[in-house]
Amino acid sequence: MAEFFDTHVHLDSPPFRGEVGQVISRARAAGVGWMINVGCDGPSSRRSVQLAEEWDGLFAAVGYHPHDAGGFTRESAGELRRLAGHRRVVAIGEIGLDFYRNFSPRPAQEQCFRRQLELARELNKPVIMHDRDAHLAMLEILQQEPVPAGGVLHCFSGDWSLATQFLELGFYLGLDGPVTFSNGGRAQEVARRIPLDRLLLETDSPYLTPVPHRGRRNEPAYVTLVARQVARLRGVAVEEIAARTRGNAWRLFRLAEVTGHP
Ligand code: NI
Repeated sequence: MAEFFDTHVHLDSPPFRGEVGQVISRARAAGVGWMINVGCDGPSSRRSVQLAEEWDGLFAAVGYHPHDAGGFTRESAGELRRLAGHRRVVAIGEIGLDFYRNFSPRPAQEQCFRRQLELARELNKPVIMHDRDAHLAMLEILQQEPVPAGGVLHCFSGDWSLATQFLELGFYLGLDGPVTFSNGGRAQEVARRIPLDRLLLETDSPYLTPVPHRGRRNEPAYVTLVARQVARLRGVAVEEIAARTRGNAWRLFRLAEVTGHP
């Protein structure tokens, strides 16, 4: 059986309350052996670390999402630094810019993003990034604030030309449910053209549910649907997509060091 790695889940979020165990069991039954739970603010970052302590195969990322950038203070940075010292925290995320919803003012988003890139540099951790309608600002900031440990553009939503710019900077791209949508042409083109050593699979559960479950709550078991669609688009076996993307996650998040398994 193919073994999948869902590199982006939010099992701490309210739609999963009281059901995390069942959701993880269904993921394992579907062949999803590994997940990264990604924080969005202080409480969800703390909860991510707890989940990673409770569940085998689950790792944590800690960070402030651009929607929550307005609540990011000097104390927040201190807490993230402390949380990131935990053995099962493998990345700083989710961080970035969202100029589509603008839930936090743009200057606050940019400052919060820069501070966390600095933190990632200081701690030598990779980053998990969110970019919605902020492509050029993201590229500019990433050119000014390099992250030696690398990172991923989660739920990549740009076109192929933008993809090549992020790939040239050394980043991985994450694909999820939209690659299965009938209007997911841009994600499908990225899925066809991206070098297989730079692709990660994710669900962003509970959001972005792939076809045929679109409209319902997403969960990590459905990363298999994302993998199948990528395999179909590339004309390769789903086992190959599973193995390559799993290897990419292992390399980017340096999981050999965390787990002791090469
Ligand atoms: Ni997310």
